[in-house]
This record gives sequence, structure tokens and C-alpha cells, in this order.
Amino acid sequence: MSGSTFGKIFRVTTWGESHGKAIGAVVDGCPAGLSLSGEDIQKFLDRRKPGQSRYTTARKEGDCVEILSGIFEGKTTGTPISLLVPNQDQRSRDYGNIAVSYRPGHADYTLDAKYGFRDYRGGGRSSGRETIGRVAAGAIAHKILEEMGISFCTYTRSIGPVSIETFRKEAISQNPLYMPDPTAAQKASDYLEQCMKNQDSAGGVIECKIQGVPAGIGETVFDKLDANLAKAVMSIGAVKAVEIGDGVQTALSTGSVNNDNFYVRNNVVHKSSNHAGGILGGMSDGSEILVRATVKPTSSISQPQDTINNQKENISLKVTGRHDPVIVPRAVVVVESMCALTILDLMLENMSARMDSILSFYHPQK
Ligand SMILES: Cc1cc2nc3c(=O)[nH]c(=O)nc-3n(C[C@H](O)[C@H](O)[C@H](O)COP(=O)(O)O)c2cc1C
Repeated sequence: MSGSTFGKIFRVTTWGESHGKAIGAVVDGCPAGLSLSGEDIQKFLDRRKPGQSRYTTARKEGDCVEILSGIFEGKTTGTPISLLVPNQDQRSRDYGNIAVSYRPGHADYTLDAKYGFRDYRGGGRSSGRETIGRVAAGAIAHKILEEMGISFCTYTRSIGPVSIETFRKEAISQNPLYMPDPTAAQKASDYLEQCMKNQDSAGGVIECKIQGVPAGIGETVFDKLDANLAKAVMSIGAVKAVEIGDGVQTALSTGSVNNDNFYVRNNVVHKSSNHAGGILGGMSDGSEILVRATVKPTSSISQPQDTINNQKENISLKVTGRHDPVIVPRAVVVVESMCALTILDLMLENMSARMDSILSFYHPQK
């Protein structure tokens, strides 16, 4: 299966299936000399691991990362970093009924249409577990960006019809839904309880705010920062829309309102607003970057659904196995990781954009 590699300079290849022996990633292109430990990666993986609340799959996985290569005496060596997370709590028998039938809303039908054969156990490669490799690699990208003064704030903006109305950063880690508004988090929990009672699932919206990215990151044509962010975030299973800044709302605005006016204070360029979400012409403009991801309701629900089997017969299917009643909270760190991978890769690419940058690297004395 191709298409498992992301990035040009900081290249990440994810590998592994939901019910295989292990899952992970290979990161090639990480600069030498970065202090990196298992804990740096583990704290990211812990944000997405299952079983943290009743709103995530009951699958019990420690998701403990093992670093197999690329680190010596606590520092990266510039060689490929291989990351492995064992799968521990597979129950493949639960997936027997999807071996020959197609879950509505999942990748079973399209995988069979493409390959004529698939690892149906837990969704194989199209399982949410594939995102472990992205998060492990994203933790490394995040660490490099942190050293460059770039920071992320990622959280759940809404679940079903419940949206945040206030923003308290410290509240994000204080509820299992990662909402910065405790009242909204309670209302969203009530909504999820109702969905679960109806053997149903919910969707929602994740927001990622990135601060400290200098102006000029991203290319002007095909490798625009917003285009690459959209591809990166849209490649996460169940993400159905990506917005930058005011996104779809800009259609309702006017030029005079939507334009962010520039001004200079103490020789520093500022904008009076940020409808653009920090990106102009495909390049960062130095202000906060805002990425928003819309996540659909989990397709694997246990109420009976009309579908077909691989003999082209109409059937009714009750999906068994353990599934997230809502994907949003576990996908928060996945969105952050994909944004970190995108920005770091474009920042590394940007180092060769100007003659003066090249000269100052190779001839600093000139
Ligand atoms: C963190 C995470 C967890 C997920 N958990 C589930 C799950 O438990 N059950 C399920 O049916 N889909 C789950 N998904 C979504 C599927 O991976 C996704 O719907 C599937 O690959 C089909 O892709 P599409 O929805 O983009 O068309 C999860 C996705 C992510 C990112």
C-alpha cells in the first residue's frame, strides 16, 4: 500500500495494522543533536491512548513506545528513528462479521473494491490505531518546534450541538473531552450519554492554535502552508473538513470586514484582526495560525444498519468490537501532531529559500 509517507525533509512513514503485532513509525530527516527520550514521545501518546474515559473505546492498551534506533546517549544521531508500540489487547474474533460485510461509513467496501482483499481485524490499516505513528513522530516535530519558540494549543471546540462559550486554557486537561469550557464539557458529556444510550455516536470540531511561527513559512504555489495543513489534517480518519481562520464563514463576510489591516508599532508589523488565521498567499504572516478540523460521528455503531456483504446481498449489520462513541477527544493530539509535522517540514524547506540564508549557513564569516 503506497501513500504511507508524509513530508519532504522531515519524512514520516507510519506502519502497522490495528490487530498486528505492533504499530509505529520511522522518522527520517530528524536533525542530529536533539535531546530526545521515550518520555518526550510517551506524553503525547498518553493523550490519545484508549480507555481514558467512558467516551473512548474500552480496548485496554498501554501504548508504550519503544525507540529502536536513531538515538545515542539521549540525543538524535541524524539517522532514521524507528518507533514501535506493541498491540496488546486485540480481540479479532469481535470483527468476524465484518470480514464479509461492509460497515456503512467505514473503509471496508472501498478497501475490497481497491485490493480485493483486506485485513478486516479492527479495520486493519484504516483503524484509528494507525494514528499512533503520527503522534509518536509528531511529538518529535513538536519538540524541535518548541526549541524554536513555537507553541500549540489544541482542544475540542464542540461535540455534537454543544460548543464552547468560554475559554480557560487550564480547563483543557481537566476534563476527558479536552474542552476549555467546563460547563460545555458537562453538557457535551450529557449529550454523549444520550448518544450511547441510543447505541449511536457523535462528531465534533477540534481547534489547533499555533503561536510563534515566523512570517514566510510555506511555498507560494502547490506547497502552500494552508494546502499542506489541509492535506495533513484531512488525512486523519474521520476528518471531513479543514478550515483556516474564519474558514467557511468568510463566504458570508465582505472584503472590508474580512481583510486584516496591517500596522507598524515600534518597527514591528502587526495586524488589527486575524480572519486569515495567520496564513496569506500560502505563507505564514507571523500571527497566530488557526486550524479547525471537523470530525464525523464514529461509523461503527451497535444499532442495526442496512448494508451489503461481499456477495452483493442486502443485509442488516450490528457492528461488534470496541469503538469510540466519539472520536474527537482522542483526535485532538493527532491534529496537533499533523500540524507540527507540516510546519516543521516547511520550516526546514524554507532554509534554502534565500541566497542570504544559504550564504550565512555556509559562509557565516562573510
Ligand atoms: C483516534 C481515532 C480513533 C478512531 N476510532 C474509531 C473507532 O473506534 N471506530 C470506528 O469505526 N472508526 C474510528 N475512527 C475513524 C476511522 O478510522 C475512519 O472513519 C475510517 O478510517 C474511514 O475513514 P473516513 O471516515 O475518513 O472515510 C477513529 C479515527 C481516529 C483518528
